[in-house]
Amino acid sequence: MTRSTPEWTRPQQTGAEQTMLRAAGVTMQFGGLRALNDVSFGLAEGEIIGLIGPNGAGKTTLFNCLTGLYAPTSGAVSLRGKALPQDPARVTEHGVARTFQNIRLFPSMTAQENVLVGRHVRMRQSPLSSLLHGPGFRRSEAEAAERTEALLSFVGLTRFADELARNLPYGDQRRLEIARALATDPSVLLLDEPTAGMNAQETEATRQLIFAIRQLGISVVVIEHDTKFIFTLCDRVLVLVQGEVLVEGSPDEVRGDPRVVEAYLGAPPEEVEAQLHRGEHQ
Ligand SMILES: Nc1ncnc2c1ncn2[C@@H]1O[C@H](COP(=O)(O)OP(=O)(O)OP(=O)(O)O)[C@@H](O)[C@H]1O
Ligand SMILES: [Mg+2]
Repeated sequence: MTRSTPEWTRPQQTGAEQTMLRAAGVTMQFGGLRALNDVSFGLAEGEIIGLIGPNGAGKTTLFNCLTGLYAPTSGAVSLRGKALPQDPARVTEHGVARTFQNIRLFPSMTAQENVLVGRHVRMRQSPLSSLLHGPGFRRSEAEAAERTEALLSFVGLTRFADELARNLPYGDQRRLEIARALATDPSVLLLDEPTAGMNAQETEATRQLIFAIRQLGISVVVIEHDTKFIFTLCDRVLVLVQGEVLVEGSPDEVRGDPRVVEAYLGAPPEEVEAQLHRGEHQ
């Protein structure tokens, strides 16, 4: 199988397709502002969902509710049918990892160390073994170092392993955040604007990287303003407007939906159409 082609098909499943992550009627109220209103969706196993919508639509707030950073005013979030705790560290342990719209790396640590931090979520050592640097501890440290090296290679950052995160080019910092998220062994990965600030080449590399992540069996939700990127990456697209899911469907359905054309950007139809097809003929 060739690596990371859009034609990649999901492995045959025996029963009904399993829902990994589910939001049911999620509402988030900040004082007088309702940032999310009754948002529901399910992320199937092996699926890539795109989340688009104007600035302030509630996209990041939805990620914050899905990862336990915010406790929704009402509604529920579950993984494989089990309610997720409202505690980001424990949500990560359950297998939901994320990256942030504003990169949150440890700037004075190396790329390798940043990934190791993610890995520590999965390292289970008794305090005594850690203290004594016993065989279990050494084995676990060796395993973490190996995984870190493999992950840096997977995202194409081997050459920056010993470089401080703050010295990495912007696009590579975004990739490093993805590597750190992957180090937690997620079954679901949430990416908040992974191509912001990237040039066309870096954006394409990120698209291919996300396909490769899906091939690892990880389901993905991606927030992006770049609609060409979303429409050529995702199986399904959700359009969030003023905290509500306005339209949901395949990229073709969403692109052709008059409600999206009318309401999504609030711009004249020709302009919206141009934006939705932006760059397609490059
Ligand atoms: N902690 C908070 N307290 C108060 N208001 C908030 C908080 N977080 C988000 N909001 C508000 O909720 C709304 C949705 O914001 P959010 O960041 O989720 O939008 P977004 O769709 O991610 O936008 P963008 O595309 O600009 O990143 C905005 O009006 C924002 O000001
Ligand atoms: Mg946002």
